[in-house]
This record gives sequence, C-alpha cells and structure tokens, in this order.
Amino acid sequence: MTVAGGPALGVGQALAALPPAAWMREVSWAYPAVETLHIIAIAALVGTVLLVDLRVLGVSRLLPATALMRHALPLTWIAFAAAAATGVLLFLAHAADLIGNRVFVVKMCLIGAAGANAAAFHGGAWGRAHLWEVGRAAPAPARLFAGLSIALWVAVIACGRWIAYA
Ligand code: HEM
Repeated sequence: MTVAGGPALGVGQALAALPPAAWMREVSWAYPAVETLHIIAIAALVGTVLLVDLRVLGVSRLLPATALMRHALPLTWIAFAAAAATGVLLFLAHAADLIGNRVFVVKMCLIGAAGANAAAFHGGAWGRAHLWEVGRAAPAPARLFAGLSIALWVAVIACGRWIAYA
C-alpha cells in the first residue's frame, strides 16, 4: 500500500478519526455491508449508462433514444449518489492509507473525467437526439462521447478493484 506523507497524511488521519470512519472499522458487519451496497450501486450506475451508450452507438436503434434516456437517467443519478455515498464511507474507514493510494487517486480523476464527458454529451450532442430518435445511430461526435463513457467507467471499475492491491 502506498503511504502518504506530510499534510496529506494529516488530512487522512483526521478523516479516519471521524465517528463514521470508526463505526466502519469497529462494527464487524459494517464494512462488508457498505461494500456490498457499493457494488450494487456500481452495477446499477454502469448498467444504465451502458444501455444508453450502446443505443447511441447504434445498438437496438429501433428503441426510441429519448424514451430510453427518460427511463435510464433518473436511475443513473440515484445509483451515482449511492455509489458516491458508500464509496466515501469505504474511503473514510482507511483514509490515512487510501489518501496516498495512487490507484484510488486515479479512480477519483477518472470519475471526474466520466462526469465531464457526460456533461459535454448532455450539453451538446444530446440536444439533437430527435434527429436520430428511431432507426439511426447517433452522429460521430455523440458516438465518440458514448465510446469514451464506456471506456472511462470500465477503467473506474478496474481501479476500484485494484485499490486493495496497490
Ligand atoms: C461513482 C462511481 C464508482 C464506481 C463505479 C466505483 C467502483 C468500485 C469498484 C468496482 C470497487 C471494487 C469493489 C470490490 O471488488 O470489492 C470499488 C471499491 C472501492 N471504492 Fe469505489 N466506485 C465509485 C465511487 C467511489 C467513490 C466516490 C469513492 C470514495 C470517495 C470510492 C471508494 C472506494 C474504495 C475505498 C474501495 C475499496 C474497497 C476495498 O477494496 O475494500 N468509490 N469501487
């Protein structure tokens, strides 16, 4: 495990001393229960993102794109909030170690990049979705966002699993 030094270690130790962090370490079922919820939230988040990205890429192109997005997006937001909340608890439990964990830091950067990619898609290409609502794949810029989205979330998952081995 990569060990932080200096101010980062101090911040990590202060976070690890917080009551929720102590609860996660002292209650025997807390950490595995929260990690189980983390994995369920990840499955719902990446699952709903994948469904929409594949439609943008042209899979199941007879499925109305905006109807699919209206169905999936609320679930994506709820799952993201749940993944972030459970992730913070997992982090706090071992904050003094994890704050210097390079794979954890890369994972947080990748989550930021996936968020920026989604914002750029919704702020741009998605506004013209009515042009490819049924029977067509989306234009190249939208497909680029969708492909990047899949690659980024797969990388987040890989980093999440790798944290324990870094
Ligand atoms: C929002 C998208 C997120 C995804 C897709 C994600 C994905 C994952 C995955 C796949 C694992 C491995 C689970 C396992 O195999 O047991 C994991 C573990 C972990 N995640 Fe996340 N995560 C997300 C958000 C977060 C956030 C926001 C944090 C903290 C601020 C976080 C902190 C952790 C920690 C500390 C572990 C390690 C648990 C361990 O190995 O004991 N995650 N995450």
